[in-house]
Amino acid sequence: MSHADDHSGAPHSGTRRDFLYYATAGAGAVAAGAAGWTLVNQMNPSADVQALSSIFVDVSGVDVGTQLTVKWRGKPVFIRRRTPEEIASAREVDLAELIDRNARNANLPADADASDTNRTMDEAGEWLVMMGVCTHLGCVPIGDGAGDFGGWFCPCHGSHYDAAGRIRRGPAPENLPVPTAQFSDETTILLG
Ligand code: FES
Repeated sequence: MSHADDHSGAPHSGTRRDFLYYATAGAGAVAAGAAGWTLVNQMNPSADVQALSSIFVDVSGVDVGTQLTVKWRGKPVFIRRRTPEEIASAREVDLAELIDRNARNANLPADADASDTNRTMDEAGEWLVMMGVCTHLGCVPIGDGAGDFGGWFCPCHGSHYDAAGRIRRGPAPENLPVPTAQFSDETTILLG
């Protein structure tokens, strides 16, 4: 797929950028996860947050192999641009190996299966968008290939998610949910 990336270095202005509130980092990720736990639990969505039912996210600066975390409706949303290796590893998984075989994708029928292609935004499987909230008790998992399955790891009680955000080991019962999302243009994702 083509992405007309704007890497000119010119600062983006306008309100879209205001929604990009932090990017996850490898170093200090445990601390970030713990902070996120506090964040989510203290943040009962106020009226003004609830009002932001849909937001545009500029993903032009998200390189392959990195992810962006944005806040939407008071919760973190992970937007990852996966590497070819991540895509391949997620696609070779047999559905029979999965704990949760449901896609958990708000953009698909409720009975869609959890195949990798039912989890991603695009056919090539490069873009994975999902809620950054562990389905066990709501911690924010650590990303960037964390855990034993090359995806995300929730340190609170040890849940491992794979490169498609599917739960593979630990107490979490369900895959990380994919919210209503679509590309509004080549470099902008509309959440909600
Ligand atoms: S909240 Fe994630 S493992 Fe318990």
